[in-house]
Amino acid sequence: MIRIAPSILSADFTRLGEEVDSIASSGGDWVHFDVMDGVFVPNISIGVPVLRSVRKHTQLFIDAHLMIVRPRQMAAVFCDAGADLVTVHLEADELPEILRTMEEIHARGKLAGISVKPATPAEKLAEVLPLADLVLVMTVEPGFGGQSFMADMLPKITEVRSAIDALGKDIFLEVDGGINAETAALVREAGADTLVAGSYFFHAPDRAAAVRSLR
Ligand code: DX5
Ligand code: ZN
Repeated sequence: MIRIAPSILSADFTRLGEEVDSIASSGGDWVHFDVMDGVFVPNISIGVPVLRSVRKHTQLFIDAHLMIVRPRQMAAVFCDAGADLVTVHLEADELPEILRTMEEIHARGKLAGISVKPATPAEKLAEVLPLADLVLVMTVEPGFGGQSFMADMLPKITEVRSAIDALGKDIFLEVDGGINAETAALVREAGADTLVAGSYFFHAPDRAAAVRSLR
């Protein structure tokens, strides 16, 4: 089963409630919530107060993607603010801190994800994989919506798929960046099962058709 996670980074924030509702009414699965700190990535997006509002508004599963440095303390805050799954970046801190962060997310009863930027090879995930509920392979440089898909990330998706299968554990394999009907077919073929789509979903004339085209 392929899950579709529209990224509200491309939503109209003046109408955020309706935009979130359109995810469910278009057949989407998760709300992808991008958090940027202006340090880990060269952009600032949305944070805790917005997450609390979205949590109050919807029953949808909220998939928080933290593009922030040293995420340990804030990961707990995002759990408590209503995220169902919190993904941190492998590059955002030393490995022991990242592992502790993932344990703390679990201790709060939430799912823990680990993300890698394009330059980080799949092998680097080996030590975190046993703790992960989701691996997020970035298919653009994180920081902005609307960028072009990096096709050279396809072998990495295949490698992560093999590593997950070898471990024999249920781990979501999510991709994020430049996903549209064409690139969705490529990442599904490579083994991704969870597709983030920002601009493709929110700028589509027919969002339900957009979701169907991604599955
Ligand atoms: C980029 C974010 C993405 C972004 C994707 O750093 O992590 O979730 O919203 O946007 P599109 O789908 O437009 O590439
Ligand atoms: Zn994202």
